[in-house]
Amino acid sequence: MVDLKSQYQNIKSEVDSAIANVIDNTAFINGPDVKSFQKNLEEYLSVKNVIPCGNGTDALQIAMMGLGLKPGDEVITANFTFVATVEVIALLGLTPVLVDVYPDTFTIDIDAIEKAITPKTKAIVPVHLFGQAADMEGIMQLADKYNLYVIEDTAQALGADYTFSDGRKEKVGTIGHVGTTSFFPSKNLGCYGDGGAIFTNGEDLSKKLRSIVNHGMKVRYYHDNVGVNSRLDTIQAAILDVKLKHLDTYNTNRRKAADFYDHAFSTCKHLQTPKRFENSNHIFHQYTLVLKDVDRTAFQNHLNEKGVSSAVYYPVPLHLQEAYKDSRYQKGDFPITEELCKSVMSLPIHTEMTEEDLKYITDSVLEFFK
Ligand SMILES: Cc1ncc(COP(=O)(O)O)c(C=O)c1O
Repeated sequence: MVDLKSQYQNIKSEVDSAIANVIDNTAFINGPDVKSFQKNLEEYLSVKNVIPCGNGTDALQIAMMGLGLKPGDEVITANFTFVATVEVIALLGLTPVLVDVYPDTFTIDIDAIEKAITPKTKAIVPVHLFGQAADMEGIMQLADKYNLYVIEDTAQALGADYTFSDGRKEKVGTIGHVGTTSFFPSKNLGCYGDGGAIFTNGEDLSKKLRSIVNHGMKVRYYHDNVGVNSRLDTIQAAILDVKLKHLDTYNTNRRKAADFYDHAFSTCKHLQTPKRFENSNHIFHQYTLVLKDVDRTAFQNHLNEKGVSSAVYYPVPLHLQEAYKDSRYQKGDFPITEELCKSVMSLPIHTEMTEEDLKYITDSVLEFFK
């Protein structure tokens, strides 16, 4: 689904020297590259504080800990997402409240959020799924109205912009009270292992988050908060600092590949191409089709035989997952998510795709419908 090898080959000398430099200095934990990457990412995102951490799942957990959410508090999030979003809510003893998504953009449904709000609701976690923003203006209005925190899960959309109705543009992840991201290798900004970060413009909150990632310490061996051990390795930070300079080009390349797919599939009645929400510039972490009257398994087998990868993100809604079954929810409660889980399929999309690759993939896809 991604070609990390070609991407590495194109920046090999920069990456290799950044890694060698860390090994030379032996500052493996909280070395100078972590600070440098933090500063550069703050500048890139125009956000006051970036708190690097171990991965995107920890980032979500730490954000919720930093906001002081307590067992029993309800947290609303989208049912159609990667499990990490709900996993941390459950791990902290909070109550996940799932809501449906829009069938065309796959992001959280604003009316469904409002219907799910109760006196116990403390936070909303919109997920900027597959590379485009949820409707942040609507979400922030709801948050203001009901006095809720907003934690943006930006694991799949780092670098995407959100445009407000007054024309103001902001990077996703910096609009809510806290934003989180993942630097998992296949993400739009990926490192060579695990990595993540938290963003906030709040000064007191940033101090608390920075202490939580490091055992709740501000001063060594003095623990003000219950914390975790979730630091971004210096080697990963050094790699990310190199790759951050290329992020906008990477996102442009992904968008170009998506344009090619959109054009090739525009007249195929079996393929619904991903809708681009006008307030977000989609950066295509995934290129996800909705299949219409198609046997998905047979289609995937056909692509497999042609040597074309495909994947289903995500095959099972969270409320039907064994670990998250809950008497509050039954099959049929989330019709859009349930239908999407049956009908979505993603095609390869990455930063180094050539026109030849795209032509081969689109020809192979369309051949199935001949
Ligand atoms: C939407 C979403 N949230 C959270 C995560 C968790 O990130 P990580 O794998 O770095 O823990 C991911 C990673 O795939 C994700 O896609």
